[in-house]
Amino acid sequence: MDLIKDNSKLKYAYEQVKECLLANNIHEFVFETRIIFEDLLGYSPSKIKLHGDSLLTSDEVERLNNCLKQRFTGKPLAYIIGKAFFWNNFFKVNEHTLIPRQDTETLMVEILKLYPTKTQDIKILDLGTGSGCIILSLLDEYKNSQAMAIDISADTLAIAQENALSLNLEDRVKFIQSNWFDELDSCVDKFDLIVSNPPYIDVSDPFIAQNVAKFEPKQALYAKNNGLQAYEIIISQARNFLKAQGRLVLEIGWQQWESVQALALRYDFSSYLVKDISQNPRCAVLECKTR
Ligand SMILES: C[S@@+](CC[C@H](N)C(=O)[O-])C[C@H]1O[C@@H](n2cnc3c(N)ncnc32)[C@H](O)[C@@H]1O
Repeated sequence: MDLIKDNSKLKYAYEQVKECLLANNIHEFVFETRIIFEDLLGYSPSKIKLHGDSLLTSDEVERLNNCLKQRFTGKPLAYIIGKAFFWNNFFKVNEHTLIPRQDTETLMVEILKLYPTKTQDIKILDLGTGSGCIILSLLDEYKNSQAMAIDISADTLAIAQENALSLNLEDRVKFIQSNWFDELDSCVDKFDLIVSNPPYIDVSDPFIAQNVAKFEPKQALYAKNNGLQAYEIIISQARNFLKAQGRLVLEIGWQQWESVQALALRYDFSSYLVKDISQNPRCAVLECKTR
């Protein structure tokens, strides 16, 4: 059954969408309603105030109802509207890309502290680039920097490439399909900074949200060895691809700091932990020890 009827006034449809989302236990119902009207139909909040009495077209009603039907299956809104906001920009996303998370901005904040001069030329490698949200946000901040971005999935890289084009950053980033470092040459490819938000959830993790497990790409979520496999590979090989004072900045799960710290120690990095805005462990910074 359609929730929004033909000939609905814009302002009533807006309220109705809000109520439907709330009734379906969607906690961010106010925010999502605004996104649905703004991004799906092109009605900004001010436009809604000005034209609240105008009637929605039947095409708009159909699009709203389609969106709500999909949303009520648990499909994340970002996949329905095809984009998500991260740091300063929108990024195209689809079923091949993880939806960028606000928690991942913890890495951005820490990197901006580590490299305070925005005009710096930093050579950056992003491992597991997904939508490209981290590396493209960094290149947007550091206008003189260059990057390589790796992902194992060609479908994922296609989206990252589209995002680079729409942000006019395509000249400063090279996308490579690779299993972590496999396609890089450690003699040539040396970086100041390696950044990664790898898959780190254990397959049997009881805490993973049902909709995340159902809709987001498995290869973006899960890692073997209690979720540590990607860290073991990345940390054990990173030094070969880092310059002498190089750094490795990793997103980590809330229970993984001690294991990642132990790996850092084993491979001769000094390390420290950064917490996210909810005070959960979120980011590990590994620095090459000077020998
Ligand atoms: C957690 S997602 C992070 C995506 C994006 N960087 C972000 O923060 O939103 C992990 C990414 O790593 C990629 N990945 C998984 N295994 C990989 C591997 N063996 N080599 C390279 N990339 C891999 C996945 O395809 C996915 O895009």
